[in-house]
Amino acid sequence: MSASPVPTAVAPGAPPAERLPVSLPELAEKKRLGEPIVMVTAYDYPSAQVAEAAGVDVVLVGDSGAMTVLGYPSTVPVSVEEMLMLCAATRRGLRTPLLVADLPFGSYEASDEQAVATAQRFVKEGGAEAVKLEGGAMAQRARAIVQAGIPVMGHVGLTPQTATQLGGYRAQGRTGARAHEVACDALALQQAGCFSIVFEAIPAAVAHELMERMEVPVIGIGAGAATDGQVLVFHDLLGIREGVGARFVKRYADLQDEMVAGVRAYVEDVRTQRYPAPDHTYSIDPVELDAFRRLLADS
Ligand code: KIV
Repeated sequence: MSASPVPTAVAPGAPPAERLPVSLPELAEKKRLGEPIVMVTAYDYPSAQVAEAAGVDVVLVGDSGAMTVLGYPSTVPVSVEEMLMLCAATRRGLRTPLLVADLPFGSYEASDEQAVATAQRFVKEGGAEAVKLEGGAMAQRARAIVQAGIPVMGHVGLTPQTATQLGGYRAQGRTGARAHEVACDALALQQAGCFSIVFEAIPAAVAHELMERMEVPVIGIGAGAATDGQVLVFHDLLGIREGVGARFVKRYADLQDEMVAGVRAYVEDVRTQRYPAPDHTYSIDPVELDAFRRLLADS
């Protein structure tokens, strides 16, 4: 007799209230069944609510939020406190998707103790169910966090926290030797107990070859179609930023343009006194208004 199937959190078409929270076994089951896993970043209450309503499987409070919502030039400056605030706000807007939080640069590299202590803060204060860290060199830190009881997602290929060392924000693994390094990083993180690994900006053919060795769900971003799932940055996919973005970004909306148009129309309405109209104002009984006038005159 086969084991009972893992309950599906996102039954196709099921209303949000009927979905069960996504679990780690369910993600593993999706990999086994070849059902694509959908991950998206979110950084606050409204973006979390959007991810929830859209039925994604995994929400990542990515340190890309350093750029998309905090306006830093890279992911490097963002602090643990800032990421915790984004994570807690995201938690409040989510019910179903698994919530993963990025450990920011400088918060886990120094020692296993530092890594575990930071991961614990994201779980206890941020409400995350798992954390993500970057690079095969951090396999030992991943192992320590897993041993402390916190699930870890790894991240290989283009690892933005160490982009300077990698020669900038560019695709990785484009030579045989570099592709082999990416493979070693992924296998080291898998060996360390990561429940899932992100492949970022590597050739599709390299990801395809590597998938044969991957026992845990792999989530791709700019890694082709062979991975077990895909992740995109919320602001990239909705067009809430300037510029065209990386090659792998597919835009599903142009909300930046929509938002500017909306605010511009408001500016115009206020300046031309079309807003507020009578519909937008509160009324008062004429008797009460007279009473008010008398009180005002006497004061
Ligand atoms: O911070 C982030 O948004 C990420 C994704 C690109 C995977 O790490």
